[in-house]
Amino acid sequence: MRSLAQQDVAEMGGRWSVLSRQKADHVELDRLLGCLAEAPPSGQPAVLLRIYRLVFPHAFAEEAVLWPAIRRVLPDGQELTLRVEQEHQQINQLVTRLEALEPGTPDHADVLARVVDLLRADVRDEEDLLLPRLQEKLSPAQLRSLGFAWEAVKRIAPTRAHPVVARRPPGNVLSALPLTILDRSRDHVEAALHRGRHARRALTKAGDALARTSRAVENLPGMDRGEDPSTHIPRRRSPWGVIALVAVAGAAVGAGLRAQRGGTARRPTEHAKEVR
Ligand SMILES: [Fe+2]
Ligand SMILES: [Fe+2]
Repeated sequence: MRSLAQQDVAEMGGRWSVLSRQKADHVELDRLLGCLAEAPPSGQPAVLLRIYRLVFPHAFAEEAVLWPAIRRVLPDGQELTLRVEQEHQQINQLVTRLEALEPGTPDHADVLARVVDLLRADVRDEEDLLLPRLQEKLSPAQLRSLGFAWEAVKRIAPTRAHPVVARRPPGNVLSALPLTILDRSRDHVEAALHRGRHARRALTKAGDALARTSRAVENLPGMDRGEDPSTHIPRRRSPWGVIALVAVAGAAVGAGLRAQRGGTARRPTEHAKEVR
């Protein structure tokens, strides 16, 4: 059994193998952590946003697709995946704390250092232990199928820390759609804020409102279903979660209908162009 760190793409089953895709993200994470180490406190939030957009969809897809596959094929898959789920849970909790702290303060530096250590430990556990064990059980073709599934889930997964949501199906899968919409909207708002565009106060308020709404959705009943007790933290019961969920669903349906109407409205113009 060899660490992925010592294997090339061909040995891992090709470019689409889940092992190659995992390693590519881990290399990118290492690069971003290097940028974070060099960034001044005022530049850290922008680099952290890029790290969150890489790390949280990556981990969500691991928890939804990859770890269940490991539990199916390895007799000790339960213990192996639980260890990594516990690391993910700690990262989710620490990042939630980090977001409430001011960059440049000793508390922020302390929590940030712990997050970075855990991210590096998680990569080593996966590349040195979990993924080589999976490689022993699956053919290159199976590793590629898993790579497709993992990549597909990653592209539509939440991009922020959600410590209350289960680290396992079905809770994490149930929460995915509303949290993805909220997280990705918040990413756009915060990216505009970091670029220093106008309306900073309005953007800050919008980002805070989206963060509060996603906390409310995260605390809805059912989002912690399937959780192991060691990665479970109690939900805060609040009626706002249901209201937030209805609002998100309404916004998603509205956006879908607008897109559909836009599509039908555009067709005659496109047709006219073709005629010309
Ligand atoms: Fe990973
Ligand atoms: Fe991970």
